[in-house]
Amino acid sequence: MRISDFCFIIAATCALLGMGLGIFMGIAQDFTLSPSHAHVNLLGWVTMALYGLYHRGIGRVSGLAGWLQVGSGALGAALMAGGLGLYLSAGHDERFVPLVIVGCFWRCLRC
Ligand code: HEM
Repeated sequence: MRISDFCFIIAATCALLGMGLGIFMGIAQDFTLSPSHAHVNLLGWVTMALYGLYHRGIGRVSGLAGWLQVGSGALGAALMAGGLGLYLSAGHDERFVPLVIVGCFWRCLRC
């Protein structure tokens, strides 16, 4: 699989999840998960799509450095946005905070 294809698959999945969550929040009129919705969309959909466009634009289809960058970007986004969702839906349960912190660092280091 090409690096850009991986990015676009993750981006499209996050778009479906993030916007689905947005629609659910609107219907339920419950905005508890709003920050998680925002980060699934921004770190998952928007940023992964930008990574994909970048790698496709420079013609990089494989290579360890590229895979490390997009793989850890995707993992960091999942940990951060997922951890935030668990933290919020469990009523600010602090057990989930380390998940968010690790996801943040992991994600930001790969920017
Ligand atoms: C079907 C598409 C979408 C729907 C139905 C939707 C719905 C919502 C809703 C209901 C809220 C909460 C508003 C409130 O608290 O009053 C929200 C917040 C937000 N959304 Fe979306 N959204 C969609 C797509 C997106 C996308 C594509 C992005 C970013 C790329 C995005 C970023 C945000 C941000 C940054 C917030 C504010 C979060 C916060 O205040 O904590 N949304 N959205």
